[in-house]
Amino acid sequence: MKDQTARPLVVIGAFAASLVVGAVLMLWVMGGLRHVTAPAAIGGPFQLTDQTGQTITEKSMLGRPTLVFFGFTHCPDVCPTTLFQMSEVLKAMGKDADRVNAYYISVDPERDTQAVMKEYLSSFDPRLKGLTGSPQQVAKVMSEYRVYSKKVPLKDGDYTMDHTALIYLMDRDGKFVAPFNINQKPEQAAADLKRYL
Ligand code: NI
Repeated sequence: MKDQTARPLVVIGAFAASLVVGAVLMLWVMGGLRHVTAPAAIGGPFQLTDQTGQTITEKSMLGRPTLVFFGFTHCPDVCPTTLFQMSEVLKAMGKDADRVNAYYISVDPERDTQAVMKEYLSSFDPRLKGLTGSPQQVAKVMSEYRVYSKKVPLKDGDYTMDHTALIYLMDRDGKFVAPFNINQKPEQAAADLKRYL
């Protein structure tokens, strides 16, 4: 009797274990594929203007690691939090902060003019460059970095934007390395970034 009730459990257990193994294998294979295709696929030529009026292109990135973050100045929480974290990382880098680029690229060029960017970024580390441009210029860079964003109307006639909130780490050759983990101690994040100097 004991054997008869135990056997189905063993069978179910073995089946469940095989599902887990199958899922792990599938994730492993997908992860491997992503690794092969992603680095070449993210990034590309662009031309934008920073908050001081300087032209920034993909060539401005060369020779230094670059953190690239997309957002918009009317963003209520994610962008200000992330820009604060990026500022803390730059501070934690000490003198080496001058050897990296940190870009905040607007997904909302209609509202984020150069003047708006300048005012907004005055609350953060001065080494952060806020980039904006024409809707076409912004659409191009967003498509190259595979950034998702969507205008979401608000009740008062205003709008907000849903957007990709990941930070791209690009190496000294302007090639995508990996998403940058900003959600750790600034000292640790700074140490991560220094490895790419
Ligand atoms: Ni945001």
